[in-house]
Amino acid sequence: AEFEPNAKPTVVLHPGKKRKRAPQQQITDAKHENTVGEDKTSLETRQLDSKKLRRPHGQSSLKATSNVAPTTPKPVKGLNAKREALFRFRKDLPIWPSADGIRQLLRSKNIMILVGETGSGKSTQVPQFLLHEAWCTGAIAITQPRRVAAISLARRVAEEMGSPLGSSSPASKVGYSVRFDNSVSANTRIKYLTEGMLLQEMLRDPSLSSYSTVIVDEVHERSVNVDLILGFLRNLLANGSSKRKGKPLKVVVMSATADVEALVNFFNAGFTKAEKSNPHAAPKSIAQDDDADTTAQELHADEVATCHIQGRLFPVKVVYLPAPTQDFVEAALKIIFQIHYKEPLPGDILVFLTGQDTVESLERLVNEYGDTLGPEVPKILALPLFAALPQAAQQKVFQPAPFKTRKVILSTNIAETSVTVPGVRYVIDSGKMKMKQFRSRLGLDSLLVKPVSKSSAIQRKGRAGREAAGICFRLYTEKDYQSLEQNSIPEILRCDLSDALLGMKARGVSNVLEFPFLNPPSREALEKALLQLLQLSALGDDGSISDVGLQMAKLPLNPALGRVIVEAAKVENDCLADVIDIVACLNVESIFINLMTEEKKEEAEEARRELFRRDGDHLTLLAAVRGYAAEQSDRKAWARKYFVSHRAMQNVMDIRKQLFQQCKQLKLLPESASLEVPATTYSEARNAAIIKSLLRGFATNTARLTPDGSYKTLIGNQTVAIHPSSVLFGRRVEAILFTEFVFTSKSYGRNVSAVRLGWIDEALANDHL
Ligand code: CDP
Repeated sequence: AEFEPNAKPTVVLHPGKKRKRAPQQQITDAKHENTVGEDKTSLETRQLDSKKLRRPHGQSSLKATSNVAPTTPKPVKGLNAKREALFRFRKDLPIWPSADGIRQLLRSKNIMILVGETGSGKSTQVPQFLLHEAWCTGAIAITQPRRVAAISLARRVAEEMGSPLGSSSPASKVGYSVRFDNSVSANTRIKYLTEGMLLQEMLRDPSLSSYSTVIVDEVHERSVNVDLILGFLRNLLANGSSKRKGKPLKVVVMSATADVEALVNFFNAGFTKAEKSNPHAAPKSIAQDDDADTTAQELHADEVATCHIQGRLFPVKVVYLPAPTQDFVEAALKIIFQIHYKEPLPGDILVFLTGQDTVESLERLVNEYGDTLGPEVPKILALPLFAALPQAAQQKVFQPAPFKTRKVILSTNIAETSVTVPGVRYVIDSGKMKMKQFRSRLGLDSLLVKPVSKSSAIQRKGRAGREAAGICFRLYTEKDYQSLEQNSIPEILRCDLSDALLGMKARGVSNVLEFPFLNPPSREALEKALLQLLQLSALGDDGSISDVGLQMAKLPLNPALGRVIVEAAKVENDCLADVIDIVACLNVESIFINLMTEEKKEEAEEARRELFRRDGDHLTLLAAVRGYAAEQSDRKAWARKYFVSHRAMQNVMDIRKQLFQQCKQLKLLPESASLEVPATTYSEARNAAIIKSLLRGFATNTARLTPDGSYKTLIGNQTVAIHPSSVLFGRRVEAILFTEFVFTSKSYGRNVSAVRLGWIDEALANDHL
């Protein structure tokens, strides 16, 4: 039989239950033969589900099929049509029948591990289920690995609750807090926030006293921040109750695919340890007063409830490439148009790519080909989705496709589990993602394109089967799929730990080797990070945090950039306002538009010449920010003239404003300091002060010119080339400093400035390496 994408779904997967087979499906395209004999989907889902069902011994578990009827939230009379429709939608979510069960379990237990397929309603519903519980007198925090998800979830839940969003009204009950954007009201009860923001809040309030519940979402992504949060929460639950003055803290850990057993053991081990070390009272923790009473939230092993939500997934057919491809953008383009020509509407396409660069190049190609479609063919609408995309553009992805139009969403792994895009029937999976990886020879983190894990590939495929039967095209062979790792390695085991360690030190963890990590990093990696913090003077010789370190930890920047800010504030440097502008630029992808054709490149170079500074990219960035900020009438036109991204510049303006405020709070800037700095030309001494401040944070990111014209790093003696995007590209200077490291075919320093060797010595004088 021909594949019929509009066939009524016949199968709803329930683990363990016998399923009807999906209708025989076959794709007729000879180029992309289905190399899979049977319905792969069911097989994989079965494996996944049976893993989920493997419950640790003795834990209470709740089945989604529990016969407790949901009682709240009740439909409110007189709802307007929109809210009523939303309410009907909510009632249909797989998680809905479990509402009462979840509430009941959390009345007696303080920790819950909740596992459910993406789209089952975890992130939007669980906070609403808990809101009216008697114990829930404080706010509910719910963490997300990404800004996009935090904001879009808050917006959605505000709509569902009929509440204004964030800071827009004092009556708002739902808000969000992401780096450089805090939108809450005095009455916020449900707050979506990025993991980094919760860690920042814990710095001010280690016992999280304003919250009754912390929901840690998307744990399977295993970012460093989520691992830190889990560690801190475990300590807080086991030992830190006294600071909370008897108010209980409930923790819900949610995930699409988590290894439940590991999480249960992790939390239980915390309590066992606390009981063992002092059978009568929980031991002291950073969040505890000496004389505090410790009886409030006595916790014991077996405090952990688990809950599995049965997902709803229609069969998804998997189609592999018969042979590997070198160019997945090209391969994706072909399949997009094959689907578009062959398959009827509705049925949107979701493509998983590696990053903003591949998303934007495929977007251009789809638009180019899309423009040549005849009038008899439906339109095609390419929509990018990546973290740095502005809000409005991100929101477009969630809106239904216009009449006679097919949406093609070009996404990074954001759409894997973090956000759910409705209407998708076809998934095209490049099988790759960008991953942060520590390159120890260079002592730097860099983003590398890597194959995804099997578990990611399965998640990506699942996005095609949320609403009806679908197809997933994998741009790799079945053999490649079989050779993928089962799960990706947690970030904490593969990236630089200095940021994490600084955060721990700032929260009073004296022995980081004893911190409860779900997967402890190696001693060597921890020691390396400690050395880096020593080199930045963030720690004193005894290993405790210094005043400088505390200031760095309070800035929403990595330790190196934080150190640069603190250095620039020193009286002898006095260039903080300038450095803030540069640091703001280093926090966005790139302010200069990357041009494709030679002709355009030359044109841009000519136009940008006015902004270019001989000393390098950092002062060039400063000149660009000042020029843009000084433009009062038409900033968009200004950006166009210099081939600068207006969108990126708007972000820069936002970040610089926030950094300005934070520096005032930390007393690094006087209250009177103003953002309205004129676009003056700077003296050599001023330039030197700026570069020297940068060097204080990045002394290890330096390289000297060697007689053969190449640059070799001062530490490690590795070759590093100046990135072609740099104003210093092709120039020979005594030594260079780079604030970013890119590895493609070779090692590049990006954002480069010329420095004197003597300055590097000065910066390294404090060296503990
Ligand atoms: O957390 P989980 O992946 O289990 O589900 P969720 O994020 O709570 O999403 C539940 C449903 O709400 C999905 O079907 C989404 O399509 C919908 N939703 C939405 O329409 N807009 C959002 N911003 C978030 C969710």
